Amino acid sequence: MKVFLDTADLSEIEALAATGLVDGVTTNPSLVARSGRPYKTLLGEICATVPGPVSAEVTALDAATMVEEGRVLAGIAHNITVKVPVGEAGLKACATLREEGIMVNVTLCFNAAQALLAAKAQATFVSPFIGRLDDVGADGIGVMADMVRLFATHGLRSQVLASSLRHPEHVVAAARAGAQAATVPPAVMHQLFAHPLTDRGLDAFLADWAASGQQILDT
Ligand code: E4P
Repeated sequence: MKVFLDTADLSEIEALAATGLVDGVTTNPSLVARSGRPYKTLLGEICATVPGPVSAEVTALDAATMVEEGRVLAGIAHNITVKVPVGEAGLKACATLREEGIMVNVTLCFNAAQALLAAKAQATFVSPFIGRLDDVGADGIGVMADMVRLFATHGLRSQVLASSLRHPEHVVAAARAGAQAATVPPAVMHQLFAHPLTDRGLDAFLADWAASGQQILDT
């Protein structure tokens, strides 16, 4: 499963990309607004920091303007993925951008019907918002797993990009269900590395090592 970072915070992206574990980034208008940075400059910097797809969302509401905005965004770097909201205008724009060879992430997907139409519009990625479904009492992981199964059953090439992930178990459940990618907020990414027993075990090893009086590097 590919791991993307769900943030527009460049310093977080730089720090976590240095681990070599980050395949790409997803942004959205709220995250970009929170960064306080000029959108296109920021996208250029993010695209230079990670090797894989960087999702950049359009903000128009009609298909023609979405396509125009998508072309501008795609012109920033080869790894831009234009993000469009699911819906009639978004999927029309998706089909046009895909014909032009531009990667497209169809966002704000909340059920299998939307995902099937996005796949039919040749979306590169389809993003189910798992946490937001859970927030309203629905089964976010179940909805996402259904999308994965339907795409496999019908040989649809769109990749399911598990989104709106709130905790490590969401990430693991997305992988278990077969999502091709997951976009992870930096705070959750940090949590993925950690376990209290790892800390406790390391403390004990290092205490014993210090007591032995040995060292690995010659001083
Ligand atoms: C995905 O592309 C979105 O940016 C994101 O996952 C939304 O997550 P949220 O529901 O935590 O805002």
